[in-house]
Amino acid sequence: TSIRQMRMEDLQGMQACNLFNLPENYTLRYYLYHALTWPSLSYVAEARNLIYWQDHKGRIVGYILAKMDEETPEGGEPHGHVTSISVLRSYRRLGIAKKLMLQSQFGLFEFIPPIIPPTHMSKAMASVYRASCVSLHVRKSNRAALSLYRDTLGFSVQDVEKKYYADGEDAYSMRLSLQV
Ligand code: ACO
Repeated sequence: TSIRQMRMEDLQGMQACNLFNLPENYTLRYYLYHALTWPSLSYVAEARNLIYWQDHKGRIVGYILAKMDEETPEGGEPHGHVTSISVLRSYRRLGIAKKLMLQSQFGLFEFIPPIIPPTHMSKAMASVYRASCVSLHVRKSNRAALSLYRDTLGFSVQDVEKKYYADGEDAYSMRLSLQV
C-alpha cells in the first residue's frame, strides 16, 4: 500500500471504505468540502495493483479525513480535527492508520522531534495551518482506536461527551499538542 494525498477521484473509494468500517457516515459533499478547503490534511492508503493490465489505480483501503476547526475564537490558536479515519479489516495492524495520522498532522511518517526536515513539514496541520493541537472524538468502547491514539500517538482524554453518538454511546474527546 502507498499513502498519498486525497484526490477528487478518491471520494467514492473513501466513502465506500467509511461505510464498511464505521456507522458515522458522511455525504460525498462533505468529503469534497474537506478536499477543497484543506487539501493537505486528508490522505488515502491505496493498495498497489499488481495485475498490470488492470486500471493502474488501486483500491482505497484506508483514509484519514481531517480539517481545521472552524470555530476558533478571535485571537485563539487554530487547531486541527480528525473527522474520520479507518482502514479495511484485512489491512489492519500494518501501521497504516499510524502513517495516515502522522502524515496529516506532521507531513511525515516517523515523527522524531525536534529534527523535522523542512521539506516534509510543508503538508501538515502543524506547518501549513500552524495548528497548536489536534482533536478528535472516539467511542468509549473502541479499544483499537483508543490504543492507536493514546498509546501509539500520545493523545490524552480531555473530556467525556455524554451520548455523543446517534446510538447513545459516550465519546472521549481527545487531544494532542502539535507544538515541538
Ligand atoms: N487492538 C489494540 N491495539 C490496536 C489495535 C487493536 N485491534 N489496532 C491498532 N492498535 C494500536 C496498536 O498500538 C498499534 O500498534 P502495534 O500494531 O505496533 O501494536 C497501533 O494502534 C497502530 O496500529 P495501526 O496498524 O496503524 O492501525 P490500523 O491501520 O490497524 O487502524 C483503526 C486502526 C483505524 C482504529 C482500525 O482498527 C479501524 O479502521 N477500525 C474501525 C474504524 C474506527 O474505529 N475508526 C476510528 C474511529 S474514531 C475517528 O474516526 C476519529
